[in-house]
Amino acid sequence: MSGYFTEDNSVDAVNGRVGNEASPRVQKVMTSLVHHLHDFVKDVELTQQEWELAIDFLTRTGKTCTDTRQEYILLSDVLGLSMLVDAIGNRRPAGATENTVLGPFYVANAPIRDMGDSISLDGKGESCLFEGRVIDLDGNPVQGAMVDVWSDNADGFYDVQQPELQPKWNNRGRFLTGADGSYGFVGIKPVSYPIPDDGPVGELLAALHRHPYRPAHMHFLVTAPGHQKIVTHIFTGDDVYLGSDAVFGVKSSLIANFEHIGGKTGWRASFNFVMVPEDPSRLTASDGPIS
Ligand code: BEZ
Ligand code: FE
Repeated sequence: MSGYFTEDNSVDAVNGRVGNEASPRVQKVMTSLVHHLHDFVKDVELTQQEWELAIDFLTRTGKTCTDTRQEYILLSDVLGLSMLVDAIGNRRPAGATENTVLGPFYVANAPIRDMGDSISLDGKGESCLFEGRVIDLDGNPVQGAMVDVWSDNADGFYDVQQPELQPKWNNRGRFLTGADGSYGFVGIKPVSYPIPDDGPVGELLAALHRHPYRPAHMHFLVTAPGHQKIVTHIFTGDDVYLGSDAVFGVKSSLIANFEHIGGKTGWRASFNFVMVPEDPSRLTASDGPIS
């Protein structure tokens, strides 16, 4: 083969330039990427006009990113890429709590509250008691687990989306488990809401005739020394968008029992988080670092 680029030899022409000194992981990732990218372009016979449209779309996606908005992660979310990477990186034994997307509305260092406290500071929505235990695979309580929670308010917005309208840290809090591993706090029964769809990702969803909604959920980030962190949500079982989450975050094991018990408590959601031990071999990719 001559070294010149042709339609037929395009993959080899590009991958043949990769230096032997490049790290094994870079070689593996980039040669596979070029392979699949060229196959895709050949499969759809991408036109010059479509290529320009894609470049413009990606450029605008980048320009939409700010300190508080990450349109590329949102793009990854709606393409199912975030959930796929998460699934590959968090294979867990049966019985362990499954992961799902973190989402753009997590804020670190939420106030540490006392067990039983309310995280709902705006007084809106239907009250809901969230309770359960953090345990290991053998059912033993995990003491000292930090249960970090956040949800939208009854209007479907997170506090950070409405800093002028909502109290800071509305519907957020951290709770530290005691010896019995139990947690409990008062929030609201979550409601479904649209992901930010006023940018390029929204245009893409519209072009695909897809809606932007996420089914109602409460976010949890559970961490404890010696255990793998759990990034997850629990979903209400009665949401119309459960089967069509815009970011593919629903797993059947994460649909919780929300029970209407009336009175001041309103609703009660029970869910146990099952943690697995930290495995240090997970921290290094088998082919070495990507640099
Ligand atoms: C969320 O649940 O907060 C979320 C996740 C992915 C994209 C947008 C929002
Ligand atoms: Fe959310």
